[in-house]
Amino acid sequence: MWEMSNYANLFSPGKIGSLYLKNRIVMGPIITRLASENGAITAEMTDYYSERALGGVGLIITEAMGVDYPLAFGQPYQVRIHDDRYMPAHAKFVERIHECGAKVFASLWHTGINRGLFEGEVPVGPSAIFNSNTGITSRELSVDEIRDIVEKFGQAARRAMICGYDGVSVHAAHGYLISSFVSRATNERNDQYGGSFENRIRFALEIISAVQSHTRKDFPVICRINGDDFQEKGVTIEESTKFAVELEKAGVAAIDVSAGVYSTMDKMIEPIQYSQGWKLYLSETIRKYLHIPVFGVGVIHDPEFADRAIGEGKADFLVLARELLCEPMWASKAMAGDQHYRKCICCNYCLQRGSNNLPVRCAINPLSGREQHVPKRADKTKHIAVVGAGPAGVTAAVIASKRGHKVDLFESESSIGGQLLLAGVPPQKDKICGFVDYLKKEIVLNKVNLHLNTVFSSSDAEKFDNVVLAVGASPKKMSIKGAELITTTAWDVLKSPEETYSGKNVIVIGAGSVGCETALFLESRGAESVAVVEILPRIASDLDGPSRIKIVEELENASVELFTSSKLEFVEGKNAAIFNVGNKSLLSIPCDLIVVAIGATSSRELAEQLFEKGIAVQLIGDAHSVGRIGEAVHSGFDAVASL
Ligand SMILES: Cc1cc2nc3c(=O)[nH]c(=O)nc-3n(C[C@H](O)[C@H](O)[C@H](O)COP(=O)(O)O)c2cc1C
Repeated sequence: MWEMSNYANLFSPGKIGSLYLKNRIVMGPIITRLASENGAITAEMTDYYSERALGGVGLIITEAMGVDYPLAFGQPYQVRIHDDRYMPAHAKFVERIHECGAKVFASLWHTGINRGLFEGEVPVGPSAIFNSNTGITSRELSVDEIRDIVEKFGQAARRAMICGYDGVSVHAAHGYLISSFVSRATNERNDQYGGSFENRIRFALEIISAVQSHTRKDFPVICRINGDDFQEKGVTIEESTKFAVELEKAGVAAIDVSAGVYSTMDKMIEPIQYSQGWKLYLSETIRKYLHIPVFGVGVIHDPEFADRAIGEGKADFLVLARELLCEPMWASKAMAGDQHYRKCICCNYCLQRGSNNLPVRCAINPLSGREQHVPKRADKTKHIAVVGAGPAGVTAAVIASKRGHKVDLFESESSIGGQLLLAGVPPQKDKICGFVDYLKKEIVLNKVNLHLNTVFSSSDAEKFDNVVLAVGASPKKMSIKGAELITTTAWDVLKSPEETYSGKNVIVIGAGSVGCETALFLESRGAESVAVVEILPRIASDLDGPSRIKIVEELENASVELFTSSKLEFVEGKNAAIFNVGNKSLLSIPCDLIVVAIGATSSRELAEQLFEKGIAVQLIGDAHSVGRIGEAVHSGFDAVASL
């Protein structure tokens, strides 16, 4: 089978220590919260991983598994390997992955300072450090406690080996416990575990040694490290290279090079703006100094790119995390040269779910995390109308068609995509356009009858067995005294991507993600000045952590002025009065154009008309409740899964 592949580098066999692998594709760790509340592996979790194994990856690195309890953990529903009683479930899990054709390493992890209070326990770390991300000061570990944790890593590795895992990956990245010892930003100790580089990496090396002493000689132990923390006083590429060299000397079989700590999380779990493989320079640099394989990670979507990266020596193996979350069949599709696959849009819906302690889901693949819920073929074929071809409508139409229904999809505009077409306009958001292309192809492949430029009216409904309404929402408007003639909405601005704004002083009202992105768009289109006025004290609060960090940085770089806790009172001539509700100050700034971005209201007119006629309708997407892409796609899927 392998010789069929176009990607000779990606599909060349690999070796990690004594372990042979069928290709260079590694499924990267993603905490799924598919474990049970008390951290046992569940059937759902096994299904999630085995689907990716069936999809052709060579190696799976599991999500982080806690080696101690409760201190190693951040939240419930995270996998535990700290006690022998978890072993039967791990063994069954590994068996399934092997049956599905992949090898699997257990990721051994201690969260350290990266968590809030959990089970009443204060987080522990090398030093008592205030963590601005959690608002908590960690407790300094004693030397006895450090030795105890070292032994716990060893014991966890022993369990992993007995359960059949093919190796372990020691998590020494992302500011978690081991990484926090390595970094001067978080390690202020002055004993044998702090100060010099040799002392700061001692904890890591002792863990590697403990893992080795509890496992077979040929059992592969790899290590995930940060190539760069991107943090003041944190680990830099020079130090991480030295660290990798020491790990190799200690007998580690491969190094997986990630980056970023919680305060620089946009470099760890990149938002949409980052380009493909942008941080592979880190693995490439480290690789020059090592003789063992080096893994590279971050924003990898295309097999062509991945194949070239390996060919150019950027890494020996490539780790794909979110791409495999959204496209489990990525490896087998790549091997077959199939160009129709989902490309992760880095929207971090998966991460946002995790932050709310919800099980993992993917915005653009509604089956991720619920692999067994593939909708069954319908008993009776129905004629279904889906109105509106945004992400919710297309998803509903495609799933209904897959189930054997006859589906007509109506769109009043000349193209499918709905809000996605606007979301893809601001700078560096073109990954969204890739998703629109994917949906277009799905419509064709699944034989959905698409009617563009077609308004669906309530009288059309009678011809169908079911009507699903995905008619979206309309932007909320606002009237500002003195600004009637110069006020528009963010949606209208984004609808005209070619428009230029040179010489214009623009004020955007509302600093949610739409307001912030529109401000960046206006700046990129030549506006003289752009200010954003937000009534809340914080901007972009609808975004996940990494996306928020990035957009704040971009607004700063673009010199967009932010007025938080403020509202625009009135406009007089060419000036707008901005009132700060906190300090009660009134400020005047130049203003030629006002762009309102204060949210949207579900469109319900058609639903009301159908309801009046006694026709049952299903509302999905923004028409049901205004949300992000993930909510739209999932509501489309759910609406027709049993229709
Ligand atoms: C929801 C989520 C959970 C993650 N959990 C882990 C984890 O348990 N351990 C880890 O080392 N990295 C974790 N990561 C980081 C990924 O392994 C990966 O390094 C990162 O997402 C960048 O790669 P990608 O662009 O292929 O997703 C997680 C990422 C996401 C999105």
